[in-house]
Amino acid sequence: MNPVRIGIIGCGPIAQAAHLPAIVKANNAVLVAVCDRSELLRTAALAMHGAAAAYADAAELLADTRVEAVIIAVADAFHVPLAIAALQAGKHVLVEKPLSDTLASAQQLLVVHANTNRVLHVANNKRYDMGIEYAHEMSWGPLGQRMAYRGWYCDSHLRYTVTDNLHPTFVTATDALRPGTDPKSDRRRYLLLTHGSHLVDTARYICGSIVRVQTQYRSIEGAHCWFSAVTFADGTLGHLDLTVTIQGDHHEGFNLYSQHGSIQAKTYLPWFFKSSDVEVFTSTDQQYHRPLGADGHSYRRQIEGFCAVIRGEPVVRAAGIADGIAAVAVLTAMTRSAEAGSTWIDVDHVAGLP
Ligand SMILES: NC(=O)c1ccc[n+]([C@@H]2O[C@H](COP(=O)([O-])OP(=O)(O)OC[C@H]3O[C@@H](n4cnc5c(N)ncnc54)[C@H](O)[C@@H]3O)[C@@H](O)[C@H]2O)c1
Repeated sequence: MNPVRIGIIGCGPIAQAAHLPAIVKANNAVLVAVCDRSELLRTAALAMHGAAAAYADAAELLADTRVEAVIIAVADAFHVPLAIAALQAGKHVLVEKPLSDTLASAQQLLVVHANTNRVLHVANNKRYDMGIEYAHEMSWGPLGQRMAYRGWYCDSHLRYTVTDNLHPTFVTATDALRPGTDPKSDRRRYLLLTHGSHLVDTARYICGSIVRVQTQYRSIEGAHCWFSAVTFADGTLGHLDLTVTIQGDHHEGFNLYSQHGSIQAKTYLPWFFKSSDVEVFTSTDQQYHRPLGADGHSYRRQIEGFCAVIRGEPVVRAAGIADGIAAVAVLTAMTRSAEAGSTWIDVDHVAGLP
C-alpha cells in the first residue's frame, strides 16, 4: 500500500511512548513532519524518529502539502481547535481521546467534519487490542442477544511505578504549550475524562450505544469512585466501575452475559503491549474459546487501521467522531447524575438531542 504521509502535532509523553514509534513501525505509514511548540521536544522527535520537517507552529505543519494526515497528541482542551484547523486544511485526523473536554466543542467539530470528506478517528486504542476485537466479534455475532455487561477500570496506586518502568525515558521541556488552566487542577473531572473515556468506549464497542446512566460517586483520601448503572440502546443492562486509584494492581476488564454464551476479559496496561486475556464460552459447542492475540501493539495497529481507512478500506474497529461525542456525553451524564443525587439521566438529553 502507498504509505500515508503523517504529521504529528505534539511531541509530549503520549507521542514519545506511543505514536512516534508506532508510526515508524506501521506497515502503511511514513512520518513526514513533527510539530511541537517546544524546540527541545520537536528536535528530539526529529532526531529519534526521522522526518522531513519539524515545525513550532501547527499552522505551518498543516500548510505542508506533503502531510496527508495528522495525529493530534496534545492536551484535551486543544483537541477540537486543532482538529478543526486540520480538517479545514484538508488533512485526515487521528485525535487523542477524549475527543474534547466539553460536549459543546465536540459538537462544533461534528459540524465542520460533516462538511468534509476526511477521515476522523478518535484514538481509543483499546479497540485495536486483539482480545477486545475478538470479544466485539463474538458479542455482535454468535453470542446472540445480550443480557448484561459489567466493565471496570480501576487504576493502581502504583501506576506510575509500573509505567515509569515500561515507558521510555521521556524528554521533558518547560516551554511545552499547556492550556491556560491546568487540566489536572480539577482532578475529579480530569480523571473521569481521561480514564472514563476508555471505560465507556470499550463498553460501547462491545454492546453499542448507552442511552441512560445513574451514577453514585464517592471519594476517600484522594481516591475517586464512580459506580454507574447504565442501560444500552438494545436493552442490555450495564454496570461501569471507574475507580482511581485502588490499593492494588491495575484492574481492568469486563464480563458479558448473552443468549448463547458469555465473555470474561482481563485487560493489561497498554504499555505491556499485551492483548487482553479473553475467554468466550459458547453454548452451541459447550466450549471455552481463547484467542492468542499475539500482536499486542494497539497503538501501531490503530495507526495501521487509520491509514487503511484513508486508503479506502472499510472502517472495522475505529472510534469515529460520533463515538467520541457519545463518550463525552455519557461522561457528562455521569457527572450530572452524581451531582443530582444519583438520578437517572438520559444521554440524548445531555447531548441536546430531542
Ligand atoms: N490513548 C492513551 O493511552 C493515552 C495515554 C496518555 C495520554 N493520552 C492523551 O494524549 C493527549 C496528550 O497527552 P500528553 O501527556 O502527551 O500531553 P502534554 O500536554 O504533556 O504534551 C503535548 C505536547 O503538545 C505540544 N502542543 C500543544 N499544542 C500545540 C500546538 N498548537 N502547536 C504545537 N505544539 C503543541 C505541547 O508543547 C506539548 O509538548 C491527552 O489528550 C491525553 O488524554 C492518551
